[in-house]
Amino acid sequence: SILEMEVEQINKGKYEHYMQKEIHEQPESLTTTMRGRLIRGGSCKAKTVLLGGLKDHLKTIRRSRRIVFIGCGTSYNAALAARPILEELSGIPVTMEIASDLLDRQGPIYREDTAVLVSQSGETADTLNALEYALENGALCVGITNTVGSAIARKTHCGVHINAGAEIGVASTKAYTSQIVVMAMLALAIGGDLISSQERREAVIDGLFDLPSKLKEVLKLDQEMKDLAKLLIAEQSLLVFGRGYNYATALEGALKVKEVALMHSEGILAGEMKHGPLALVDETLPIFVIATRDACFSKQQSVIQQLHARKGRLIVMCTKGDAASVCVGGSCRVIEVPQAEDCLQPVINIVPLQLLAYHLTVLRGHNVDQPRNLAKSVTTQ
Ligand code: AGP
Repeated sequence: SILEMEVEQINKGKYEHYMQKEIHEQPESLTTTMRGRLIRGGSCKAKTVLLGGLKDHLKTIRRSRRIVFIGCGTSYNAALAARPILEELSGIPVTMEIASDLLDRQGPIYREDTAVLVSQSGETADTLNALEYALENGALCVGITNTVGSAIARKTHCGVHINAGAEIGVASTKAYTSQIVVMAMLALAIGGDLISSQERREAVIDGLFDLPSKLKEVLKLDQEMKDLAKLLIAEQSLLVFGRGYNYATALEGALKVKEVALMHSEGILAGEMKHGPLALVDETLPIFVIATRDACFSKQQSVIQQLHARKGRLIVMCTKGDAASVCVGGSCRVIEVPQAEDCLQPVINIVPLQLLAYHLTVLRGHNVDQPRNLAKSVTTQ
């Protein structure tokens, strides 16, 4: 109806699509996600994290033998992005489960496990079924959702709301970055009593405080990503290479491109390049390489050189000021992003890929907010 259309326009504000609005809203949604949960300075001068929904269960979580992340799609990718910092700060093994696959295998879950169920909607059938399964097996179940009162929020023992605000576009964008931030805070909370990692924890907390302003900065790449989308408009396929903290960024970037732009795209773990994907490389196939500064940087530099040696068509994402050092051995298009604390860099790095997927979709004339065949929450198996 006309009324519904007008309400839609009011909700979208100055934006044409919800996905666009939700991408650009991320400096604010991240601020809301962190509000009241990060404590810096004050009387005790300590930097800490307060997650109210978890405080009675932290001891049990710290004693668990394993933490199992369970989710689907973007929520799974967000957990994958947070896995390294959770392993580092907790010292507990962290394993990853796509909800449907856990159920297909009836994989082992034990009383000594902490299962973390990640879901924007809190209603995804596979994740909900995996929750029932983890509960039956006696695991402590923690929910991370964006929807107060959702099935997953209600049925888990405890949890954290990501408070990103309603997400309307089928493609998850602002929920992804808020989920990563919540799981980084979860890592800080679990590792909270270890003296050995105090300095690192404080650096991560400072890094979290800095994120909203860095998000604003990275959003300025909008026009550059639109120009890149114009170049890629007629392509059949796009590969995205990442590793370490940004393996998840590669998977999530590719998911965005395929889901809304309806272009084949594949996220590839760069360490696996020689085990198959290298055969695809030629002068025509566009390849997006994430090579921002972290402990994997030199390995990523050598990946770029090897791709150049095969005349790969490269688009390289690097840290501001690094353009000359990433593009050795051939020519490539470079996208420079602001640097964040290494474990939080995925929150920055996904943004140009979200923008690219958005612009590709509009230019290719597809439905941005409701891609064909997809639903916002998948409540059937
Ligand atoms: C994300 O862009 C997708 N629409 C999809 O992968 C989604 O993340 C997945 O269905 C999980 O949804 P949930 O977070 O609501 O559980």
